[in-house]
Amino acid sequence: MSKLFIGGQWHVASSQDSIPVFAPATGEQYATIGRGQAEDIDLAVKAARAALAGEWGRLSATERGRTLTRIGVKILDHIDELAGIEARDTGKPLALARKDIEALARYFEFYGGAADKVHGEVLPYLPGYSVTVQREPFGVVGHIIPWNYPAQMLGRTLGPALAMGNTSVVKPAEDACLTSLRVAELAVEAGLPAGVLNIVTGYGREAGAALAEHPGINLITFTGSPQVGTAIQTAAAKNYVKCVLELGGKSPQVVFADADLDKAVPIIVGAIIQNAGQTCSAGSRLLIQREVFDEVVARVAERFCQMRVGAPDSAPDCGPIITKAQFGRVNEFVAYCRDSGLPVLAEGILDAELPSAGYYVRPMMFGPVPRDHRLAREEVFGPVLAVLPFDDEDDAVALANGTEYGLVAAIWTENGARQQRLSRRLEGGQVFINCYGAGGGVELPFGGIRKSGHGREKGFMALEEFSLTKTVVSHHG
Ligand code: NAI
Ligand code: MG
Repeated sequence: MSKLFIGGQWHVASSQDSIPVFAPATGEQYATIGRGQAEDIDLAVKAARAALAGEWGRLSATERGRTLTRIGVKILDHIDELAGIEARDTGKPLALARKDIEALARYFEFYGGAADKVHGEVLPYLPGYSVTVQREPFGVVGHIIPWNYPAQMLGRTLGPALAMGNTSVVKPAEDACLTSLRVAELAVEAGLPAGVLNIVTGYGREAGAALAEHPGINLITFTGSPQVGTAIQTAAAKNYVKCVLELGGKSPQVVFADADLDKAVPIIVGAIIQNAGQTCSAGSRLLIQREVFDEVVARVAERFCQMRVGAPDSAPDCGPIITKAQFGRVNEFVAYCRDSGLPVLAEGILDAELPSAGYYVRPMMFGPVPRDHRLAREEVFGPVLAVLPFDDEDDAVALANGTEYGLVAAIWTENGARQQRLSRRLEGGQVFINCYGAGGGVELPFGGIRKSGHGREKGFMALEEFSLTKTVVSHHG
């Protein structure tokens, strides 16, 4: 492939250079992508700006919606192909990749349907005046996307941006971006006018940084690490541009003595194993009321030990880690946990005869973890579960809220009053009661506070996030 998608056409990167693509399952290089840089970003921003002034800018909301809906259908028509690309590129189990492609299509369907349901407001004002509040696109949106759910994340950010009439320049992650290139092509086949969606692959420090600081960008969305989020926000601030940032978490599963464990245990294990723990909303802390600590640990550990790590096409519970670098980070973190004497409560199983150069790690469950231990506070971004005891409701709240992050939390209790109290007291963008959605469905507003970022994506709320209001005041006497 090795080309960038700009203005509806394939372009060789101005650097003439490419970046190797490795399969996490085998460690082997199997493709290359273009190494886009500032010049290419500039070309893409110009194409997106031109598209705003063209046919796209004149379409009715209904027609924009129809276009998005057609993209959704097109994606579903190519689900096997896209799931295959995604699984190979990310190493995730094929079944999960398929769900991700379904979610990608769902974003286009949801926002396709929503495009013409965004109504303005009529405000009461002084006698003789009429006032309306209308919604308008920002203009050109810059999207910087991570590698953990590349397809889903593309839909999550493009859906509302395009529904509101913006145009887009996407810088996908250099570690997994092949689906986005194929989707861009399918979108044009589905009738998206050229230049509305542009994809510039490349390194974060080159293409990503160039996009964040480009003065032609009117809004930036980013999902990834807090460090890069800060860099992007700093660059955007110089152009007075708003950022929607989603920067990960250390999300707690809070289990009380009266929890329904039959229901809770598989979900608790799934919430950290899914996507090899490389999920911003992974349930990476298991907080257990002290009186049932041993019982809950035993139940969760029993299931955790059955988690199988294998190649994407072998229907494993857990695939490999995305890159050699992330593989190194996760292994280092686990080694640190072992060296610091944390008790191992459970370990998953590595399939026999995995390719030795693949990035496979054994899922780990540690506990009890001291509250000041790095594992209790820092995001691992791997299949590593930290287990901590708590005493009572106040203690649970203090512990659950006691990290720099605030993204998602889950409460496991049959006590309805406690469910209500805790859903108010737990800090973050989503609280699940006796369930867990790892970010939840397309319909559910999602985003964080503090180091988890700010702004809201998903649901109707994203349509507000990706548009501007204009208040029109008319004096007619
Ligand atoms: P990263 O934050 O460096 O990468 C995310 C995206 O940002 C990629 O598209 C990358 O090319 C781009 N990027 C990198 N540097 C940039 C810059 N200076 N300017 C503009 N764009 C830039 O994340 P990385 O290094 O892949 O992973 C490191 C850690 O980040 C992970 O271990 C995890 O803790 C966290 N992370 C969180 C994610 C989430 O879903 N919240 C997703 C990916 C990573
Ligand atoms: Mg990085």
